[in-house]
Amino acid sequence: MGHWTITREGDGLATLTLDRADAGTNTLSAEVLRELGEALDLLERDPPRGLIVRSGKANGFVAGADIDEFGRLDSEADAIALVKRGWDAFERLAAVRYPTLALIRGFCLGGGLELALACRYRVAVDEPGTRLGLPEVMLGIVPGWGGIKRLPRLAGAPAALDMMLTGKTIDAKRAKRMGVVDEAVPPRIMENTARGVLKALPAPRKLPFTLALTLNPLVRRVIAAQARKQVARRARRQHYPAPYAILDLFAKHDGDALAPPPSDPASIATLLRTPTAGNLVRVFRLQERLKSLGKEGAFQPNHVHVIGAGTMGGDIAAWCALRGLTVTLQDQDAARLAPAMGRAAKLFKDRLRDERRVRDALDRLAPDVAGDGVARADVIVEAIFENVEAKRALFAAVERRAKPSAILATNTSSIPLEEIAGALADPTRLCGIHFFNPVARMMLVEVVVGARTRPEIAAAAAAFVRSIDKLPLPVKSAPGFLVNRILAPYMAAAFRAVDEGIAPETVDEAALAFGMPMGPIELADTVGLDIAVAVGRMLGGGGDPPRRLLELANAGHVGKKSGRGFYTWTSGKPAKQAPGAVPPGLADRLVAPFVAEAQAALAEGIVGDADLVDAGAIFGTGFAPFRGGPLHYAAARDGKAADPAPRAVV
Ligand code: NAI
Repeated sequence: MGHWTITREGDGLATLTLDRADAGTNTLSAEVLRELGEALDLLERDPPRGLIVRSGKANGFVAGADIDEFGRLDSEADAIALVKRGWDAFERLAAVRYPTLALIRGFCLGGGLELALACRYRVAVDEPGTRLGLPEVMLGIVPGWGGIKRLPRLAGAPAALDMMLTGKTIDAKRAKRMGVVDEAVPPRIMENTARGVLKALPAPRKLPFTLALTLNPLVRRVIAAQARKQVARRARRQHYPAPYAILDLFAKHDGDALAPPPSDPASIATLLRTPTAGNLVRVFRLQERLKSLGKEGAFQPNHVHVIGAGTMGGDIAAWCALRGLTVTLQDQDAARLAPAMGRAAKLFKDRLRDERRVRDALDRLAPDVAGDGVARADVIVEAIFENVEAKRALFAAVERRAKPSAILATNTSSIPLEEIAGALADPTRLCGIHFFNPVARMMLVEVVVGARTRPEIAAAAAAFVRSIDKLPLPVKSAPGFLVNRILAPYMAAAFRAVDEGIAPETVDEAALAFGMPMGPIELADTVGLDIAVAVGRMLGGGGDPPRRLLELANAGHVGKKSGRGFYTWTSGKPAKQAPGAVPPGLADRLVAPFVAEAQAALAEGIVGDADLVDAGAIFGTGFAPFRGGPLHYAAARDGKAADPAPRAVV
């Protein structure tokens, strides 16, 4: 055995340690599962008094199945074999005569959690790195190795389904409260606790009566039907079949992914028939790629100074403080800083919950009217009004006071970097760090590289973006960079459709049916019609300016923030009529300009390659993730490269 080791102790307990020989992270490849069988054979011959299953890696327990193997599956039979392999291995582990315990430290995801669930007991180490979850749904697949069967038995159906349908992870304390683990303990007592449990053999925790009821076959169907309605609000079955399959497998097959016949909508065969799983695995890889772009270099910022505490600057400062950096926030006077500080306090409360951590985050964020932070900061982000003279004057002054090693960055959406850089004694120091609104929700940040920006500045800016847990995308300084540029013609097509008399609801429905997370008209209202007009002007694009958009914006009806735009907004929600029948070809009229602009941006070298265009579109605009990005979608549609067969249902 190369991946697992068995060690036996004097007290009769044994430990089975997974330390994948050929990788830095534990994942459950075919080979690893086969060896687990061998290990169980050995243990069977001389059963221990109890078995601790643990990881030999410092970085975590087990990250899940081996995603690389998904790409190599050639047929339905292969996919079925993959599901069966894990299912059988964990059924066997669950049935051994001696007591078993998973000692969980660090990430414990997907197949890793299913392994832990197959043990009789679980002890989780209570520290920030410990995360438990079944994120399969995010890859378009289902927890096919026993997760759908075993998690509800421990946590009850509602909480288990919530985890499986959203892919959300939980920490050790939450896992203990939910009953997913038996103990959540600090690292120094983890070994003793594990051994103690295996010696004391407490009776397995019983679900409270009301939760036990949720496992009753009839109640299961009711719960699944309710959950299906919630899922339907977020994702359509033809686009995202996996959450629906999870519900069917839970309600009808007790989690056995191999039970439904091939014609069943919850079967592996059906999941394989859509390209969704393959494309979501692609999206996962694109995300990993963007993350890796921020890894280079040893730049480790501690202090960020943000100038301009408006919509963007205020939220950028708050986000950086939330992620652990020391932040100073500057504006013209204290009154302008107050709203930003209020929004920051709310963000910290929502995200951190724990009072002490909220207080620490507030301590990290200091209002700074005098701009004293400039001299101490490692990164200086400018987010003042979109006015070139104001920005030039500001940077000229900032440059004189900043540390020589500090990155100088502008958040401008439309002013060419070179025009601002011209005001600096050393124009090679300036780059763009372009966040999107709302800052807390948008993962992507464009790192704008101007004609003169030094490469090491751009690399350090990407490392900064990564250090605050966002996804950096290096883009060339050109109007609209990547994201606004590819979004604009799509939005313009939507405005034109409205000008032709098609109801905004119908236009939005066409986009939703294609798979966009939000329709373009609702998106315009959300971003602000004033901004939509400004971006449209900057990017030009010919044709008549959108009439209705201008009318509304000129009348001050700028969307969500004013309560009225294309829609009327109450408590942050648009009042929408039922959409009319979508005219044939409408979705294509919207999407074709998006794709064409993405192709043009690629041809002009705005980003490095086609995958990065797709990554920008998915993480910056929300372009239908299950389609794998605009360029990938176009290639698949035109038959140039078939969608990767989706293959894998673990
Ligand atoms: P905003 O108008 O909400 O805020 C600008 C803030 O800068 C105001 O609080 C103002 O008092 C302050 N300010 C102006 N001159 C200053 C100076 N010399 N020193 C200190 N503070 C000063 O503007 P918003 O929307 O936050 O935009 C800021 C920048 O971010 C612009 O460059 C814009 O293009 C860009 N941006 C805006 C996005 C949006 O959706 N609003 C999205 C991405 C980028």
